[in-house]
Amino acid sequence: MKIFLFVLNTVLILVYSSHGWIGNHQTALSFQPENQMTSTSHALLLFPAANTTTITDFSLCLWFNVFYFRKSSSYICSYATSSKDNNEMNLGIRSSRIVLAAGSLYVDGFRRESLLLPGMWHHLCFVANGDRETGTFYLDKELTNEVPMSPRSILLNGSLVLGQETDVVAGSFQAQQSFSGLITGFNIFSRSLTTAEVMSLAACRSENLEGDVVSWNSASWVLSGSVKPLDLQEEDYCHQKRFRFVVFPKMMSPNAAIDMCASLKSELALPPQPH
Ligand SMILES: *[C@@H]1O[C@H](CO)[C@@H](O)[C@H](O)[C@H]1NC(C)=O
Repeated sequence: MKIFLFVLNTVLILVYSSHGWIGNHQTALSFQPENQMTSTSHALLLFPAANTTTITDFSLCLWFNVFYFRKSSSYICSYATSSKDNNEMNLGIRSSRIVLAAGSLYVDGFRRESLLLPGMWHHLCFVANGDRETGTFYLDKELTNEVPMSPRSILLNGSLVLGQETDVVAGSFQAQQSFSGLITGFNIFSRSLTTAEVMSLAACRSENLEGDVVSWNSASWVLSGSVKPLDLQEEDYCHQKRFRFVVFPKMMSPNAAIDMCASLKSELALPPQPH
């Protein structure tokens, strides 16, 4: 049987606002909503070139929502301090995989089909802990993966880019590595967050927990190309229900359709047609 799967984000948002929640506003950045392959669209944050600070422990946390997956990895962020050191803090995703680079070392977060869904908000944190020599990935309050990672030393004098993979300071992007989706709540901390802190961020219970290296509420991202800021309500990304619509291209009686949906732990989305 063929199953067509649609994730209707606009419908979801309507459903949630109909609950009448009034929450905080948050800005999201929108990249390539029509799946455009581009090397000219990104958000850029330059650290002071004279900065000699380095960090070993760090935590990178964000919310993201993918419009379209690419065949190769799309980059949510990348960070270069020189053309040699151009994978200092990169976060790449595919439909079945999340990878992170810290101080030129790539570590595998998760590998799994249906890990990420298009049109769904996901909360991700990566926590580097130099003392324990680990990197820990947290996805959607549920999945955790701790991987061995020798302490990395990352200079804070580089260029941080959202939506592209940078091969030199603030440049050299490749269209097929661009990101198609939304990003909000992107914060980088110069310490390893505790599991409890990560969980409270993922549950939007930590409004005061803002990154000291990058703070979403105060960083001045410079937007290039078609990147668009959007205004979101907190409930749009935070209290999202995991709805999915599946269309079965098959004639069925109303009762048979209701029964089949029940056996799939679902409900009929359309009212049964009267005869
Ligand atoms: C950052 O500092 C390192 C070490 O001094 C230097 O090699 C690098 O070129 C600097 N990067 C930038 C973008 O200034």
